Amino acid sequence: MTATLEVGLGNRRYPIRIGAGLLADGAAWRGAIRGGHALIVTDGNVAPLYAQRLRDALVRTAPPTLQTGTLILPAGEAHKNLDALAHVLDALARLGATRDACVLALGGGVVGDIAGFAAACWMRGIDCIQFPTTLLAMVDSSVGGKTGVDHAAGKNLIGAFHQPRAVVADLATLTTLPDRELRAGLAEVVKTACIGDAGFFAWLEAHVDPLLARASDALTHAITTCCRFKAGIVERDEREAGERALLNFGHTFGHALETEAGYGALLHGEAVAIGMVLSADLAARLGMATAADADRLRTLLRRIGLPLARPPQLDPHTLLAHMRLDKKNRAGDTRLILWRGIGRAEITTGVADAALLGVLA
Ligand code: NAD
Ligand code: GLY
Repeated sequence: MTATLEVGLGNRRYPIRIGAGLLADGAAWRGAIRGGHALIVTDGNVAPLYAQRLRDALVRTAPPTLQTGTLILPAGEAHKNLDALAHVLDALARLGATRDACVLALGGGVVGDIAGFAAACWMRGIDCIQFPTTLLAMVDSSVGGKTGVDHAAGKNLIGAFHQPRAVVADLATLTTLPDRELRAGLAEVVKTACIGDAGFFAWLEAHVDPLLARASDALTHAITTCCRFKAGIVERDEREAGERALLNFGHTFGHALETEAGYGALLHGEAVAIGMVLSADLAARLGMATAADADRLRTLLRRIGLPLARPPQLDPHTLLAHMRLDKKNRAGDTRLILWRGIGRAEITTGVADAALLGVLA
C-alpha cells in the first residue's frame, strides 16, 4: 500500500509517496520529469543495491529521447563537500543537461543533500526528485528542500533551499540498511516527537521493539507521522524565518559534535541523539522543563541503542566555538532549540556560555 502526502507550497507543491516497491514503479514518479535529461546520483553502497532498479524503471517509462546518466559518489559524510558537488555538476555537463533536466537523488541524506544542491546550482536551478533509501532521509532530509554540503568550519554551511519535484520513499530499501543507520534514523523520528507531539513520543516508547525489528506497519506509521509533521512546518515557514528552526532540536550541539569528531566518526543521527539529551539537560538546568522529561528522553534513546553523552575526547570549549558558527545564530547570540517538556520545543536566545559549558562538561 502506498501513502501519499503533500508539501503544499502553492505552484511548487509536491507529493511524498511512501510504500514498498516504488523505485521500480516508474508510473508513480515518472511524471515529475519534465525535460529530456535525467541524471541518477547515488553512492557506492546504494548503487549496487538499487541503481539498476531505478534506471530500468526510468528507461521503461521514459520516451526514447530521454538521455540518462548515472553518477556514483563515494559514500559517507566525509565526502559531503564541494568536490562531490563538482562531480555532480561535471556529470550534468557531460550529459548536456539543459534547464529542464532532472536529478534523481538515490540514497541517504548525504546523497540527497549533495544532489539537491547540484540541482539548485546547475543553470540556477533544475528539477530534482528525492529517492531516500535511509530511514533518516525518509523522515527528514528528503523533505523540505534544504540542500548543501559541509565546510571544514561546520556542517551544512554551504547550501541552498531548493524544493524537490517529488519525494519517493521505497520502504523495501530499508531491508538492507545497516542496524546502526536504522538507529540513527530513529533519532530524527524521536526528534519529531520531542518538538511537537507528546502522543507520538508515547507511541514510540511503546513501539521501540517493532521499529528495531523493521516491522512495516510501525515504520510506515513513523515515517508518515514525521513527513506530515515536517510538511506542515515547511508549508508555514519554508525559509526558516521562525518555526522551522524547531526542526533543529538537538542539532546545534549535534552539528558541533559531528564537526569536531571529524565528519563521519559520529553518524548524524547519533550526534543529534546526544544533542537532544544535552538540550533537555540544559532546559532542566534553566528551569524551563523537568529533569524527569530529560530522563524519559534518555531512556527512549538508550532503548533504541543510541549514544547519550559527549565523547570524552571532544573538548567542551572547542564544541562551544563550533556552536557559535551555527546557522541559526544572529550576531553575538547563540540561538538554541530547547523545550518546555516533551512535545513543546521552543527557540531560546540569550543562553550564557557558562550554562552551555555546564552541560557540555
Ligand atoms: P548517509 O546518506 O551517509 O547514509 C548512511 C549510510 O547508509 C551510507 O553509507 C549509505 O551509503 C548507506 N545506505 C543508504 N541507504 C542504504 C540502504 N538502503 N541499504 C544499505 N545501505 C544504505 O546518511 P543519512 O543518515 O541518510 O543522512 C545524513 C545526512 O543527512 C547528514 O549529512 C545530514 O546533515 C543530512 N540531513 C539533512 C537534512 C535536510 O533537511 N536536508 C535533514 C537531516 C539530515
Ligand atoms: N532538518 C531541518 C530542516 O529541514 O529544517
